Amino acid sequence: CGIIGYVGDGHDTADVLLDGLSGLEYRGYDSAGIALANATLDVFKREGEVSALESALEGADVHGGAVGIGHTRWSTHGPPSDANAHPHTDERNRVAVVHNGIIENYQEIRDELTAAGVTFVSETDTEVVPHLIGQALDAGYDPEEAFRRAVDRIEGSYAIAAVFVGSETIYAARESSPLVLGVGDEGHYLASDVPAFVEYTDRVIYLDDGEFARIEEGGIVVTDREGLVVETSIETIEWDPEETGKSGYDHYMQKEIYEQPTSLRQCLRGRVDELEGEIVLEELADLAVEGPVQFVACGTSYHAALYGSALLQERGIPAQAFLASEYASERIPVGEDHLVVGVTQSGETADTMRALREASAAGAETLAVTNVVASSAARECDHALYIRAGPEIGVAATKTFASQQVALTALACVIGGGDSREVVRGLRSVPDKVQTVLDESTAREVAAEFVDADAYFFIGRHYQYPVALEGALKMKEITYKHAEGFAAGELKHGPLALVTERTPVFALVTGDGEIARKTIGNVKEVEARGAPVVAVTDGQSDVEQYADHVLRVPTSTPVAAATVANVQLQLVAYWVANMLGRSIDKPRNLAKSVTVE
Ligand code: G6P
Repeated sequence: CGIIGYVGDGHDTADVLLDGLSGLEYRGYDSAGIALANATLDVFKREGEVSALESALEGADVHGGAVGIGHTRWSTHGPPSDANAHPHTDERNRVAVVHNGIIENYQEIRDELTAAGVTFVSETDTEVVPHLIGQALDAGYDPEEAFRRAVDRIEGSYAIAAVFVGSETIYAARESSPLVLGVGDEGHYLASDVPAFVEYTDRVIYLDDGEFARIEEGGIVVTDREGLVVETSIETIEWDPEETGKSGYDHYMQKEIYEQPTSLRQCLRGRVDELEGEIVLEELADLAVEGPVQFVACGTSYHAALYGSALLQERGIPAQAFLASEYASERIPVGEDHLVVGVTQSGETADTMRALREASAAGAETLAVTNVVASSAARECDHALYIRAGPEIGVAATKTFASQQVALTALACVIGGGDSREVVRGLRSVPDKVQTVLDESTAREVAAEFVDADAYFFIGRHYQYPVALEGALKMKEITYKHAEGFAAGELKHGPLALVTERTPVFALVTGDGEIARKTIGNVKEVEARGAPVVAVTDGQSDVEQYADHVLRVPTSTPVAAATVANVQLQLVAYWVANMLGRSIDKPRNLAKSVTVE
């Protein structure tokens, strides 16, 4: 979910809130709503995307309010509907609340409030908060104290903001969910993430867990749980608002795929010492790895983590990648000699944060590999390595995966030591090779040929195994069609039963060594069963003999080939989804950043 708030008379509040919600839609788009407070408290909310709310507001008198909050939702408790949309209010419409996160003890509070005669109008966990505030107002507490008392009652994760009728203040609190304040010349802002208000100000204050904020036109006061004022520092962020536009592309995802040569150069800048053939990661100067390395991650980032662990194993370092959501259940042994690396684009994924916190509690050293500066992962881990991909708006991760691969390669060199010359050479050439793929790819024709296929399979070995998984995930996410990635050798142990002439198999075959030869063996097995084969290859082996189509990539080092080949699969998924008319940037049921476990 995403939260926005604005206090000030420099801008029209409803406009700031709607702009902000559009900038936050990547966090969820099941419903959207705003509350405007002055003499009255007016709440407008709609199921669906922010555009549905905008249409509902056309002609309504929403302009001129000095204080407002807004929310875009990714459902956790209760399906998407107008009633479940935020903001939520108390029965007497004195307070409106928006919330991101999960209130774990909401059922107990709901039962208690219901017994006291409160009628709930939604199925959300959030609605307990305005009712708790309402009770405190009834008991004579002022708005600030009523807000604090309600927040004290709830357990779980939250970023919460509230506005009150007849008041020009926003009250906010944070615990394990992101919340950032914007300091402007013409008012102040609050949001889950900077893109929500970056067009108005670049000066920000990051709230920490357990902190409360009182935001008024005259200033911002941050306090701790006891109510004592906390010293805050205002940071200036570097963010080009232009970067968040589509720049002429039809979709953000397409733009982000084409941005990869630039974002990869940005990731490498200052980190490659060409003369010495070395990688330098200054931010990790204090990192001393003495024992095994564990990676925790979800989704696309998990595929990057698999790649990262293969890189370390190759250097003789015991390493393993875990799905963050399974990490605790598997009771993985972890202790003081471990380094636990959270790979997370957003730096906010709840499953990954939980795994990192558990590892840290067990005494492990933690490192965040993330795209978002000052994200929860970056701030809570002992170390942070930024992948510098720039803002990624498309829900399906593309450029951030490429930058994760490159950043993890650099990390493996730094941790693993030894001679990195070949890896450095490979890394340096990745942006140009990705550019060649973008310029020359025939992915669109391949997509046209197979747009009606029953399913898509992807196979690869070693560094190309995570790429096979990622190719399938991209295809599923944006085309809604069945796609699976397999370690090429596993195909014959079951999945081969699925293969028909209506299931194209994409085979990642780069280089001409043993790995390529073995994968070609698997390609032959598929071909013999009549399935069309699309080879993603640099032409070094004879795989083309057995393939119906070829997606050509420039020859690279084995490590770099995984980044270069993946771009072809991004393009195939993009074009299949495009031909099917899918909602490419916002696929159904998904959110870019999932802040619940
Ligand atoms: C969500 C997104 C995925 C993403 C995953 C991990 O599920 O839809 O695209 O890979 O979260 O996100 P992170 O920000 O931790 O990399």
